[in-house]
Amino acid sequence: MKLSRRAERIEPFYVMEVAKAASQIAREVAGSASPMIFLNIGEPDFTAPPLVQEAAERAIRDGRTQYTHALGLDSLRERISGWYAQRFGVDVPARRIVVTAGASAALQLACLALIDAGDEILMPDPSYPCNRHFVSAAEGEAVLIPTTAQERYQLSAAKVEAHWGPRTRGVLLASPSNPTGTSIHPDELRRIHAFVQGRGGITLLDEIYLGLSYEDTFGHTALAIDDQVVSINSFSKYFNMTGWRLGWMVVPDALVPALERLAQNLFICPSAVAQYAALACFAPESIAEYERRRSEFKARRDWFIPQLQAMGLPVPVLPDGAFYAWADCREAARHLGVEGSWDFAFEAMKRAHVAVTPGRDFGSAETSRFIRFSTANSMAQLQEAAARLKGMLG
Ligand SMILES: Cc1ncc(COP(=O)(O)O)c(C=O)c1O
Repeated sequence: MKLSRRAERIEPFYVMEVAKAASQIAREVAGSASPMIFLNIGEPDFTAPPLVQEAAERAIRDGRTQYTHALGLDSLRERISGWYAQRFGVDVPARRIVVTAGASAALQLACLALIDAGDEILMPDPSYPCNRHFVSAAEGEAVLIPTTAQERYQLSAAKVEAHWGPRTRGVLLASPSNPTGTSIHPDELRRIHAFVQGRGGITLLDEIYLGLSYEDTFGHTALAIDDQVVSINSFSKYFNMTGWRLGWMVVPDALVPALERLAQNLFICPSAVAQYAALACFAPESIAEYERRRSEFKARRDWFIPQLQAMGLPVPVLPDGAFYAWADCREAARHLGVEGSWDFAFEAMKRAHVAVTPGRDFGSAETSRFIRFSTANSMAQLQEAAARLKGMLG
């Protein structure tokens, strides 16, 4: 069958390919003394807290399962607006909030609304692979710019300026980032946005890990800088609702009608049950639970990363947010008699029964040297994984 060039351009999401291999090995070792520990998928081990679960049950029982407004329930848009005010001290009117089927749908809508065929979007390398594919699905071209540990794996205004060309339409940044867990310093972001605005471009910020920050310097929303920033967000990470498929974006007023037309046609609306459930995310009891979980994520980071460093898997920059560790495995791979992070990941799965993600997905600058650990797993599992990896590398 002849496929479209668009479909041909999309590379596989290797995280998922590796996950399939991990599940296969996991089945083989399920009954053994060391069943597989999954540190490969970036998804919280927590589920939606009780009030959210109850709200979902209530919505189903009461039959509130019809289509909603394409932009989402007004009540949910108001609650999200309230969260920005309370938590971040930023005034984000509900009319600028578009509720979507996860950050993935928000990114897709934003790209379709803003990118024309041949437009270039600047992104850091490494970065979340699907983001460059949202750009190419909209017939744009993602330009990946190599970054270094000194730059916290983020772009600077100077680099954006150096790579800005006649076809450049804007930047797509993620802060905190997947796979590195590092954020852009707010001052640098301000400079990037000023430059982009000066060129008439767009600043797209993937803020899906907003709320999951562990250092005071970071953890601010880019919306505090300017209401012309397009900010993508989700209930998947801080709110622990990955499979519910619910997210949102905050956009300039002028963009709302175009997004509404696209959302009506492409999706009709996000899941009604997930939206009614999400209303309960903002109850004080739920927020208290999310904050307790954030402390737990921080405790895991603080324990696990020194363990990696000590066993010869250095993490060049301490992540300030999210739940990832981007570790250099070059020496460790050589020690095992293999080259590169792809083979290292398979050795770790086979020998230690610890599933990790090789860097390949996230770009091409040094990614064959890095692996991504997700620390969204219990402390007990992290301790066991560290002991096994130490044993393997010992
Ligand atoms: C940086 C980033 N953006 C977007 C997504 C997609 O998230 P969602 O579940 O909200 O579609 C992810 C998921 O891991 C991510 O890490």
